[in-house]
Amino acid sequence: MRPTIEWNKNKVIMIDQRKLPAEETYWECIDYEQVAQAIEKMVIRGAPAIGVAAAYGIGLGMMNIKEDDNRASAFDIIYSRLEKTRPTARNLFWALERMKKIFQKNQNRSLSELKNTLLKQAQALEKEDLETCQQIGSYGADLVKDGERILTHCNAGALATAGYGTALGVIRSSFKKYKDIKVYASETRPFLQGARLTCWELQRDRIPVVLITDNMAGWLMNKGEISMVVTGADRISSNGDTANKIGTYTAAVLAKENNIPFYVAAPLSTIDFELQNGDQIPIEERDPDEVRKFGEAFITVPDIEVRNPAFDVTPASYITAIITEKGIARRPYHKSLSEFK
Ligand code: MRU
Repeated sequence: MRPTIEWNKNKVIMIDQRKLPAEETYWECIDYEQVAQAIEKMVIRGAPAIGVAAAYGIGLGMMNIKEDDNRASAFDIIYSRLEKTRPTARNLFWALERMKKIFQKNQNRSLSELKNTLLKQAQALEKEDLETCQQIGSYGADLVKDGERILTHCNAGALATAGYGTALGVIRSSFKKYKDIKVYASETRPFLQGARLTCWELQRDRIPVVLITDNMAGWLMNKGEISMVVTGADRISSNGDTANKIGTYTAAVLAKENNIPFYVAAPLSTIDFELQNGDQIPIEERDPDEVRKFGEAFITVPDIEVRNPAFDVTPASYITAIITEKGIARRPYHKSLSEFK
């Protein structure tokens, strides 16, 4: 498999995650608008991967400007288009802000130097994300014991990052350490990232994985079949409240009820230190047809009213620890997370 996202001959190429696991096809972008659409349509998804895509979107957009163009206004147009794609993923804004700083520092250099510097920054961001996930994996594996039965929700794997994954990074590193590890992947209605992506990824790495529907988790915990939960995050406020795929909060409440540890694995770039608590995290509401339909077919009456929040917020009190690339943070998170800043 090629990487989740790559820069190749002035194109940004990403695996089309909407088509997996049935088809392994690639979405090629030759301008920033195609990158923005790829993020909106969820060709690429997962907060860190969205951040890398946005950085490449800036690189690609600026690659196409001419000597006579106004650089600052071209940059602003590209930036504002990309920042409107997905509101919850903190890494999107983090990556855009980082690209903006590089632009501001280099905007008066020759056009080819400016283009090159922006591209190099996007490539550096991709490389860093991979290394960050490997560090998260290695810290996280210290929390896992042989024989663990691990529930994960959505896909926080190689597909959701530049590679290796956050929650799946913890699982990958644990599987290297111990052989008796089994993963329970919840299907993750309505977009099915668990069923389509997590199962595909783990099976390719020969990591034992069992697919369950979202509503089976509580019963399996109650019967002792699940011993820990690890998920990714889209945005974490400074007090540790965590926005992640809809259904994460349910899993956290069930874990607490059943005395099972609930871990969040995320890079520091997912933490929004400006937000005091989870109430301030914007929650994306997606197309109602994602709920009404299964593929192209309606599973309900076509005009039914629908709610489709893509994320929920798990209060910090339900989170046993947050695994970052700098170490493991525990409550009170406003203190432990700020020490990693
Ligand atoms: O809507 P998605 O598929 O982008 O949501 C993804 C998640 O909720 C992930 O758990 C999160 O972004 C972390 S990915 C390492």
